[in-house]
Amino acid sequence: MEQSYVFFNGEIVEEEKVSISIRSKVVNYGLGVFEGIRAYWNEEEGQLYGFKLVEHYKRFLQSAKVVNLKIPYTAEELSDITIELLRKNGYKQTTYIRPLAFKNEKNVGVSIDDNNEHDAVAIYLQPMGKYIDKEAFRVKVSSWVRIADNMLPPRTKATAGYLNSALASYEATRNGYDEAVLLNRNGFVCEGPGENIFIYKKGKLMTPPASDDILEGITRDLVFEIAKDELGIECIEKSLARTELYNADEVFFSGTAMEVAPVVEVDDIKVGDGKPGEVCTRLKDIFYDITHGKNEKYKDALRPVY
Ligand SMILES: Cc1ncc(COP(=O)(O)O)c(C=O)c1O
Repeated sequence: MEQSYVFFNGEIVEEEKVSISIRSKVVNYGLGVFEGIRAYWNEEEGQLYGFKLVEHYKRFLQSAKVVNLKIPYTAEELSDITIELLRKNGYKQTTYIRPLAFKNEKNVGVSIDDNNEHDAVAIYLQPMGKYIDKEAFRVKVSSWVRIADNMLPPRTKATAGYLNSALASYEATRNGYDEAVLLNRNGFVCEGPGENIFIYKKGKLMTPPASDDILEGITRDLVFEIAKDELGIECIEKSLARTELYNADEVFFSGTAMEVAPVVEVDDIKVGDGKPGEVCTRLKDIFYDITHGKNEKYKDALRPVY
């Protein structure tokens, strides 16, 4: 493996120089928060573009605030560090960026202390093409219920919360599906383990509101924007019942890792004609152009690395 550089507590260092103790609170109790960001490679331009870096780092800082993690940088400074790290690693391919902030104290107390002395901030990179290598997704509504804001807030992208996501994904894949869809505690459609969900029906796009225990996705915001501005399709936030997935004309996921991805079957029931729908396909194509620097109008979302 080529030398990988990571950011850890104020410095860019070789990855193997970083280690954390088995006594660390993040290892024991998942006391940490994270982000998932992408930088997209444009082959013709020989350019790598960091996508919506500041938006992701603003969410990172908000997550950290909830668990009293001190991140001594602004969203803009974290974006600068990320660009420097991407340059240092020299990647010439689409790359996933993983910022992490965590409690690195070494004691068995479950509590979150006021003392921020041991709080750690790290960023590592992972070349990543498709997150799941599929063109269309067969999903299963999970028997696991999505965590709620007054349990383990999904809005806070907390390390611990992803046990709920992992259990749902594991159940789905073990049973032959590509991905899970979680319902919230009130029985409404919430989201996938790492992605938001949309339906298209009677000319309208619909997605669950923030109050239905979703993570307010940055890709979700962009889907709203491009649906309205590029396709002239209204997108509304509304609680969705499970059977609305079955009866939708189209269903699709949105997320940094998953990007825009069609769902063609829910609980073994075909969505529409069981093929990727036209609206999703058009959104996916526009999303591709925006993220790869091929759409001038959305160039502000991108930050060139080289
Ligand atoms: C649970 C969950 N929902 C939705 C999303 C999509 O959010 P975004 O579009 O900001 O990546 C993610 C990914 O971060 C996620 O983990």
